[in-house]
Amino acid sequence: MNVLKHIYFWVDERLEMHDYIKKDILDKPIPKGLNLSYCFGGITFFLFVMLAATGYFMTLYYVPSPEQAYDAVDYLTFEIPMGQVIRGVHHWSGNLMMVTIFLHMLRVFIYGAYKKPREINWISGVFLFCLVMGFGFTGYLLPWDQKAYWATKVGTSIMGTVPVVGDYTLRLMRGGSDLGALTLTRFYTLHVLFLPLVTVIFLLAHFVMIRKQGISSPL
Ligand code: HEM
Repeated sequence: MNVLKHIYFWVDERLEMHDYIKKDILDKPIPKGLNLSYCFGGITFFLFVMLAATGYFMTLYYVPSPEQAYDAVDYLTFEIPMGQVIRGVHHWSGNLMMVTIFLHMLRVFIYGAYKKPREINWISGVFLFCLVMGFGFTGYLLPWDQKAYWATKVGTSIMGTVPVVGDYTLRLMRGGSDLGALTLTRFYTLHVLFLPLVTVIFLLAHFVMIRKQGISSPL
């Protein structure tokens, strides 16, 4: 413990972060009378961290190719020590996050916390909501089993019914007219690279705004 303290003070002597972290991040006052519903944003963030941690572990074994994806997931689940637990935590965190993000949004809506001056934060939240849905949609295909294949076939077909841009979006998502190797590669890249990167940027903006504006008071 003493060693850690020593390292902390050694780094702080050079970077002078202590005052900033303490005053601007840890010691920020919150309004009186907050209740449990104010925790849903934090719980959503916690679940996002769990998803990232378990997801990055699973990329060590996953292979985004139609010939190997199913077997790779099967191997990870049944042969790797703790593999089933890690996949299970990823699965349930993903499902729970859909619930908590909705409850968080509902709390913000009911308390009118989207009103001036927090409109931009609400808008960043709407983007976060779409990104979280995107994670769910792209992740569902990755096990490449019957359920994944047909759900994605239906999902992308629905995209294809959008007027004007529908056909283009369908081909862009599938990488052609039908589902295949390119679809899996695209969904995998979206799931592990593009969506996490954009989500982290939006989360940073979300948190900076929360710190700047403070949390709204209860009704
Ligand atoms: C990954 C998704 C999200 C995370 C991790 C997240 C996290 C947070 C956290 C930790 C807070 C602090 C207060 C609280 O927890 O209630 C907060 C506040 C806020 N969030 Fe989110 N949020 C997310 C998505 C959303 C969505 C979908 C919306 C709305 C469309 C939204 C709108 C807001 C607003 C307006 C505030 C300020 C509320 C206030 O001052 O009372 N957020 N968010």
